[in-house]
Amino acid sequence: MAKAAGKSYKIAVIPGDGTGPEVVNEGLKVLDAAAKKFNFKTTRKVFDWGGERYLKTNNVLPDDAVETLKKYDAVFLGAIGHPDVKPGILEKGILLKLRFDLDQYINLRPVKLYPGVETPLAGKTPDDIDYVVVRENVGGLYTGIGGFTMKGTANETAVQAMVYTRLQVERCIRYSFELAMKRHSKAKPWKGLSENDIAAGKIAKLTLCGKTNVLTYVFDLWDRVFHEVGAEYPLVKLDYCHVDATCMWMVKNPEWFDVIVTENMFGDIITDLGAMTQGGMGIASGGNINPEGVSMFEPIGGSAPKYTGLNVINPLAAIGAAGMMLDFLGEHKAASAIEKSIIYVTGKKLKSMAAGKMGYSTTQVGDLVVENL
Ligand code: IPM
Ligand code: MN
Repeated sequence: MAKAAGKSYKIAVIPGDGTGPEVVNEGLKVLDAAAKKFNFKTTRKVFDWGGERYLKTNNVLPDDAVETLKKYDAVFLGAIGHPDVKPGILEKGILLKLRFDLDQYINLRPVKLYPGVETPLAGKTPDDIDYVVVRENVGGLYTGIGGFTMKGTANETAVQAMVYTRLQVERCIRYSFELAMKRHSKAKPWKGLSENDIAAGKIAKLTLCGKTNVLTYVFDLWDRVFHEVGAEYPLVKLDYCHVDATCMWMVKNPEWFDVIVTENMFGDIITDLGAMTQGGMGIASGGNINPEGVSMFEPIGGSAPKYTGLNVINPLAAIGAAGMMLDFLGEHKAASAIEKSIIYVTGKKLKSMAAGKMGYSTTQVGDLVVENL
């Protein structure tokens, strides 16, 4: 009997700058292999948005970019950032603009140590480092509300405000509770729960990372919403950590975390810390998610310009991002096969996650993931 045709997904590809195109190629290679194996299709269009285009045309992003992307099922992004472009122009003009205008209000960043990957945390194993950070992705300091007065004088004042609406906070917190519920079940509660928690029927834990002792307005709001929404999720244990202490425990006791939810700037900072504990930028993937719209998946490291064109950059973060994209699109089997193959490759093949030290080239690492899919 002929196999029923699987679904088809429209993917917008933005390879971007530096090593972005190289890692995107490997991500797409794995995507194609997964499509074949799991019987789905992708159609893709590549957009040349990034530093090179900006230097040539003086235009950061076409006017219709956002409207164009809305016609796709997902966006796959390499990296944005060019050494010849002043910092901020491309980041704000492309990456942040797309996050905002597509209302990708969740930045999902799994912090998971794969077997065979070296962590700087002495004595910690894959059993200890396996949590997800939900970073609010469109509010807070990133809103860009602020300004100067008396610029250039001794009295110059600059202000940039951490702005949150209740709606922004609530949808982010709700997403986090749902995610915590999805990660575990009654039959298999999160392993970090105490006997008391389990006796009380808990299956998962959600940590709000804030700063209620200093940012007494914004985190008062977060904390109230956290508890109000939390009342609807009796199976989730509610936990709170100040952001500074969160950094401490992410290093000393990462096994304490299941899902962490936090505001935008705190999330930016703690996810780089988390990425380092899982083996660095070569392996850390992220998703900018609009659960009701178009989401964008990316390796969380930058464009690493000094490695451009050398075929030495680690593509696993981009391959992982492609896997996250498939999971989001509903191709869960393909997503989990990609993750398993990445785990095989980190566990049995790569010498290091660092560019130039993997024992394989960028393209060979992509091939290895494909072979073991
Ligand atoms: C990230 C990056 C971006 C951010 C930059 C490039 C604007 O650091 O995705 O974490 O601050 O969100
Ligand atoms: Mn960052």
